Amino acid sequence: MTVVHITGARPNFPKAAPVLAALAGHGVGQRLVHTGQHYDDKMSEVFFRELDLPRPDVNLGVGSGSHASQTGAVMVALEELFTAERPELVIVYGDVNSTLAAALVCSKIGVPIAHVEAGLRSFDMTMPEEVNRKVTDALCDLAFTTSPEAIGHLSREGVAADRIHLVGNPMIDTLLKHLDRFDPAPAQAAHGLDGPYAVATLHRPGNVDSEAQALTLVRAMHKCADQVPILVPLHPRGRARLLDLGFADHPGIRVVDPLGYVDFMSLVRGSVAVLTDSGGVQEETTVLGVPCLTLRPSTERPATITHGTNRLVRAETLPDELRAAIERGRPATWPVPPLWDGHAGERIADVLVPWLAERAGDDATAR
Ligand code: UD1
Ligand code: UDP
Repeated sequence: MTVVHITGARPNFPKAAPVLAALAGHGVGQRLVHTGQHYDDKMSEVFFRELDLPRPDVNLGVGSGSHASQTGAVMVALEELFTAERPELVIVYGDVNSTLAAALVCSKIGVPIAHVEAGLRSFDMTMPEEVNRKVTDALCDLAFTTSPEAIGHLSREGVAADRIHLVGNPMIDTLLKHLDRFDPAPAQAAHGLDGPYAVATLHRPGNVDSEAQALTLVRAMHKCADQVPILVPLHPRGRARLLDLGFADHPGIRVVDPLGYVDFMSLVRGSVAVLTDSGGVQEETTVLGVPCLTLRPSTERPATITHGTNRLVRAETLPDELRAAIERGRPATWPVPPLWDGHAGERIADVLVPWLAERAGDDATAR
């Protein structure tokens, strides 16, 4: 029996690592597919070096492209792969195009799908991720959720209760597993940061794809950099546009390439605040107790606001919000969402192992 994990984009790797490890602990046969959606060393390979992830068994090498060409390329390659060797179950992660592509292929050829991080909703259908989430959840056989409100979203969309499992957050499993390695001091020294600083990540199409929006953001970030130096490990999407608009032309803005996971989390841990439009970073700052200002009109991760350090902000209000966050300082104690405790991967395995055994029994009976 083989379980196949589909990864491809940066956020998939820290989510898949604990599920792979937990299933390996139960002796489940597994294969790891990398679609090749992300391919730069710091967007992909570094996670395999740092997170005890097994090497991918297959890399589809699809690379970048429009939504249709990228999703289509993953679909064609996966259909061929799964027709040659049919998996017992395919596990997909999050909300990227590789996730959607795998769910579509599996549903058409009758391979069961488990979706890790199911039921998140921003209710903003202009986000490609929201489309990917809704379709993947409609097609999956098992929906693993990180937080209780996801159960309501899935139920309202007609997903049967017995398919939904609240298991916690596997990305936080990875964070807690490696927490001792997140040492801010050497990371700060390596980046020439010798006082308070903020970290920023920006890559949402809504922020960086249009020149007008990107310019508004650049101006807001410069006002923020008047207050505190900002280290920006800049995602390749929008990099050229932001730099063309003069983003790096401020002494307080330090643009660097995307960072390895340990370096990135170390710098986040030591920062006075994080400015971001990332999904995962909202969750990681919540657990680390680092103030997070999210440059988006909505979040599919409301627990980071109700239980965490996250606030949604607009570019126009960002400088004032940063000033207030610095004045408030880091909280002495902070709540963490339920089940974000480092054991989500094991809970997923606890559901999947009997599920696989039952299917194996059914198959034997049918033969
Ligand atoms: C994708 C996900 C997004 C996720 C993000 C995480 C979709 C629709 N979007 O967005 O949900 O938050 O990953 O990082 O799946 N590029 C490189 N090197 C790489 C990868 C990409 O230079 O290794 C550049 C290419 O110019 C590419 C652009 O980045 O066209 C965008 O990459 P893509 O994977 O299409 O979308 P992301 O913006 O990375
Ligand atoms: N990350 C990293 N280096 C960076 C930026 C991010 O290692 O320079 C990690 C971090 O753990 C984050 C994850 O990559 O949660 C996914 O980030 P991204 O913002 O690309 O994806 P999203 O969560 O928005 O889909």
